[in-house]
Amino acid sequence: MILAIETSCDDTAVAVLSEQGAVMSQCLSSQIDTHTQYGGVVPELASRLHCEVIHSLIETVLIDSKSTLKDVSAIAVTYGPGLEGALLVGMTAAKTLACVLNIPLIPVNHMQGHLYAYFIDHEPIFPYLGLIVSGGHTQLVHVTDHFEFRLLGETRDDAVGEAFDKVARQLGLGYPGGPYIEKRASNGNKKAFNFPRAMKNNGYEFSFSGLKTAVLEVIKTCDLSDDAVIDDICASFQEAVCDVLWTKVDRACTDYGLTYVLITGGVAANQALQCYFKTHSKSKGITIWSVPPHYCTDNAVMIGRVAIYMKKCNKSPKFDQRRVSPGELTCN
Ligand code: KG4
Ligand code: ZN
Repeated sequence: MILAIETSCDDTAVAVLSEQGAVMSQCLSSQIDTHTQYGGVVPELASRLHCEVIHSLIETVLIDSKSTLKDVSAIAVTYGPGLEGALLVGMTAAKTLACVLNIPLIPVNHMQGHLYAYFIDHEPIFPYLGLIVSGGHTQLVHVTDHFEFRLLGETRDDAVGEAFDKVARQLGLGYPGGPYIEKRASNGNKKAFNFPRAMKNNGYEFSFSGLKTAVLEVIKTCDLSDDAVIDDICASFQEAVCDVLWTKVDRACTDYGLTYVLITGGVAANQALQCYFKTHSKSKGITIWSVPPHYCTDNAVMIGRVAIYMKKCNKSPKFDQRRVSPGELTCN
């Protein structure tokens, strides 16, 4: 069995998968309650909280899967990208276990984890276009085969999830902002405000900081004691995001002749976004692969899944035990 560990941001997640990929058990400890008080993730607190719970989570998944450490044949762990201190907790736990048990350590790239989230429950098909929309990243990736990734474009400033979180914060909604904005948007008028769609008309790069600023400018002139105004701002903001994301995806599909699109990462849990993509793709012969919400956000199962395919495809990670910085590790 493979024990998978993910601690790149504010979720401590551990899972046990069979070598064939079946999910035997998984558990996750969210730090949202702590970070909510500060309106965003506090890296130092994230590291400390990972330290506090990681041992008991590992114990829990082993008990739930009716196994012991002796049954574990490899340890998969997120090495980056993410918060360095947070990654270090997962890496240290994983390295220690691998060393003590004398079994392989498989360092996994977090973004690859998001790209494999759909393949937890489905067989992979290639080629496809991956849109990763999370709190830290917005990337459009052309995937031609296992571990054959070509980054077509990414954000030049804020990630989509970051824009959701910042707008929600300005509106006095909770953290993380995405689910709050989605809920309020469902009652609002998406045409109430015509927010800018930066860089929409060419290429595959994204920019969301202008959209965030435009929303903040509107907020200054509005009466936020009126619930309907907040609903309208949320709906118009979400519509602008969906419009830009879909336009880029549509362009890449046309340019590269792609018919499968995966939307993944925390923001992909947004049902309005999923619906927007499904509606607009219908007439184009494009199939949208949607990941269940609990696998869109950070989790350890997707990390285990990547490790299993790395083993299957003989992708040995370039891993130097002496290196401390997780960002330096790469995969062949
Ligand atoms: O993938 P993830 O869990 O962590 C990172 O790797 O960043 O993504 C977290 C992000 C947060 O910015 C959060 O606001 C956003 O995903 N998010 C959503 C929704 N659920 C989570 N954004 C829009 N709508 C949602 N329903
Ligand atoms: Zn993530």
